[in-house]
Amino acid sequence: MRLTPRSAATAVLSLGVIWLIWSSTGQLGPKLHVPALLKTPYLSNQYGSSDEIKDAFQHAWNGYSRYCFGQDTLHPVSNTCDNDFGGWGVTAIDALSTAIIMENENVVGQILNFIATLDWTIVKGGTSVQFFEVTIRHFGGMISAYDLLNGPFAHIAKDDALRQSLFDQMVNLGDVLVCAFKTPSGVPRNWVNPLACETDNGRTNTVAGAGSLILEFQRLSDITGNTNYGDLAKKAQSYLLNPEPKKREPYPGLLTSFINIGDGRMAAGKGGWGSLSDSFYEYLLKAYVYDSIEFAPYLERWKLAAESTIQYIASHPYGHPEWTLLPQWDNILLGNTMDSLTWFTGGNFILGGMVTRNQTLIDFGLSIADTGGALYMSTPTRLGGEFVWWTNNCKASWGATECTPDTSVQFSTKTFILRPELLESWYYAYRATKDKKYRQWAWETFQGLNRVCKTSSGFAGISDVTAPDGGVKIDKQESFLYAEILKYLYLILNDDETAPYHVQDSRTGSLNGWVLNTEAHPLRVTGPHV
Ligand SMILES: *[C@@H]1O[C@H](CO)[C@@H](O)[C@H](O)[C@H]1NC(C)=O
Repeated sequence: MRLTPRSAATAVLSLGVIWLIWSSTGQLGPKLHVPALLKTPYLSNQYGSSDEIKDAFQHAWNGYSRYCFGQDTLHPVSNTCDNDFGGWGVTAIDALSTAIIMENENVVGQILNFIATLDWTIVKGGTSVQFFEVTIRHFGGMISAYDLLNGPFAHIAKDDALRQSLFDQMVNLGDVLVCAFKTPSGVPRNWVNPLACETDNGRTNTVAGAGSLILEFQRLSDITGNTNYGDLAKKAQSYLLNPEPKKREPYPGLLTSFINIGDGRMAAGKGGWGSLSDSFYEYLLKAYVYDSIEFAPYLERWKLAAESTIQYIASHPYGHPEWTLLPQWDNILLGNTMDSLTWFTGGNFILGGMVTRNQTLIDFGLSIADTGGALYMSTPTRLGGEFVWWTNNCKASWGATECTPDTSVQFSTKTFILRPELLESWYYAYRATKDKKYRQWAWETFQGLNRVCKTSSGFAGISDVTAPDGGVKIDKQESFLYAEILKYLYLILNDDETAPYHVQDSRTGSLNGWVLNTEAHPLRVTGPHV
């Protein structure tokens, strides 16, 4: 999950509106004019080299470094800066593991020098930071850098003092973040004041906010030998592994979206694989990949969720039984709307299928990744919008267009804000199949980014994926451009099969020694490899 306060409000609002339309009328919404989907996804015959992704990374780094170095976020159209994550240079820290994997020694040196100067008790532009976002971006980013630089990339940073300060700062940040767990139940709150070591007064947290901390906190425990960090994350997770009351688990393994801070009981409401819950389900599986002995029970919960999703949730738009989309659930009722974050599920099911050697799960994940491919490749920008909706049967009136297999699924929100989740799924799909179409799709998407998102200082969002020029540029470049978009593009196109951090295909006997956190920072696996 990733939600800045603004995007959280927007996401909840638009989901709510779509839900309202859907549930009150049984019909899908205001009239939209969107071009019909192409029957066959567009395919170019070729793709370029991963070196071109390195160049794009350097371009984006130069812009950030020139205009905003040390601040959080570059506005890549106006070339102004924002400190929207406490002013700890989230873009620099989130870019670090990508710079290491690309062996960009210069940039790695700049970022390590910067990290050494940070004071985690000073918050710019306020008093509190978002616990979840800092955990997956700054904390995960530094732990990953520690693992990479003490492993396959030891040659990238030779300065011992800088390596020591990375370690110290990673532990210092861990000691600040544990303040979030100081609540009656041990379920963390999402805003934490690092100076006072206090949380806000929020009554609930999201399932993702409480349940996707285990990789980062357990990894710090395993590196330092101090079990406290992992214990706190496991305590928070325990409520989600045995959710109460039972009616908040409408399908086995699938929950509502909020948890009460007071007693760890689940709150009423909708559920889904997208925003608010996404990385909770993701980490059930990845915790098992990280330590397959200790977190074996987490895998059982993931399998339950996966089984329910295949059996009860999976939805196929009219005319496309081969395409899979994941609706939200409201108790047992389904609503045919899906946010772009949900595209990560393709990769998650594929990874689950590879590590448990289950082809049914892999095929299910591939059908999600391929649905996204068909949708993205049907637009002139080769990018996809923030929400899709669809009809299974064309029974209700369907938009402005005749309901056909070409119009039965549409982008209900056509903005693209540098979301990486579909690229993430294509990466897993490529690792599982070696089918070159995933490289071609990734390359098409990269060309689209260059055509409609690129600015003189970086990459912007766009207002309309269905307009050839992308419509109006959106003046924001979140740090996940560096951590995820550019990393997944690079990994998809990177031919180095010996690279140890690549996702491995357990069916062929090559086991995973690394696992990517939800911000795509690779962490070294500690348990027996699976
Ligand atoms: C593979 O996964 C599917 C879907 O969850 C499940 O129904 C099936 O039992 C699994 N197969 C094996 C051999 O575990």
